[in-house]
Amino acid sequence: MKDKVTIHTLKRQKQSGQKICMVTAYDATFARVFDEAGADVLLVGDSLGMVVQGHDSTLPVTMDQMVYHSAAVVRGTKRALVVGDLPFMSYQASVEEAVRNAGRMVSEGRVGAVKLEGGAEFADVISAITRASIPVMGHLGLTPQSVHKMGGYVVQGRDEDAARKILEDAIALERAGCFSLVLEGVPLELARQVTQRLSIPTIGIGAGKYCDGQVLVCYDLLGMNPDFKPKFVKRFANLHGSMMEAAGAYFSEVRAGTFPDEEHSFKSKPIRLVASTPEPTDASAEPEKMGPVYGAPV
Ligand code: KIV
Repeated sequence: MKDKVTIHTLKRQKQSGQKICMVTAYDATFARVFDEAGADVLLVGDSLGMVVQGHDSTLPVTMDQMVYHSAAVVRGTKRALVVGDLPFMSYQASVEEAVRNAGRMVSEGRVGAVKLEGGAEFADVISAITRASIPVMGHLGLTPQSVHKMGGYVVQGRDEDAARKILEDAIALERAGCFSLVLEGVPLELARQVTQRLSIPTIGIGAGKYCDGQVLVCYDLLGMNPDFKPKFVKRFANLHGSMMEAAGAYFSEVRAGTFPDEEHSFKSKPIRLVASTPEPTDASAEPEKMGPVYGAPV
């Protein structure tokens, strides 16, 4: 197995032009698959509020939930760096609360870094968390926790003023101590300029090809939701189709009585079971069906 990925690995990847591969994961099984497939970073995104919990935003996700999912992902990971999102209102109210919550993600969730959304206004929070030796990934552009402020999930930084603000925020986040930055939902030319200007790696989602790495929500890249296909998502598989087919085949076999067959059933030496309790006398209890079902036919 290759060496474990750290924040220093990612910096070297930027310097050498080796793209960073990041994907979200919310449980140990998915984490194991993506880790084995060669992910550099697994993000326990608060997108779990939408794709796992079925909410229409990430806002209801709690610290306890992030800690729970992070710990599961870490248990399934050997090589990748696991980054955990700080959920809405876990870092906005005060610097002290932000540091405590970031600390929980590391001590209970066992992640190697946390991610938080927002620009220069969070520089003090980022400095305080990094001072506690917790690496921080920033997140600019379309920041889902600000859905109400943005007026929806809309591309950010399209005009010159908005683009300049994102570039200035990116510089502020680097100065505050972020080791990397997610750029979400911004024009590719803006992402190119931010990436060129920073010495920390940028990781894009809906931000074009010039970022130092890419991230996608795992359910999107695997094609698990046929109703969700924004422009920036490429489906690398059709798991929805495969799952429908597999589940349908299973249900058909159960209904037809062909599953489980011999291959999927346990066997033992011929045995005759004698009930230790008296046979019920009530015919409605169907004693016939409750016969010696555990052994081979006698
Ligand atoms: O929550 C998440 O999954 C994210 C990525 C989309 C970057 O923040």
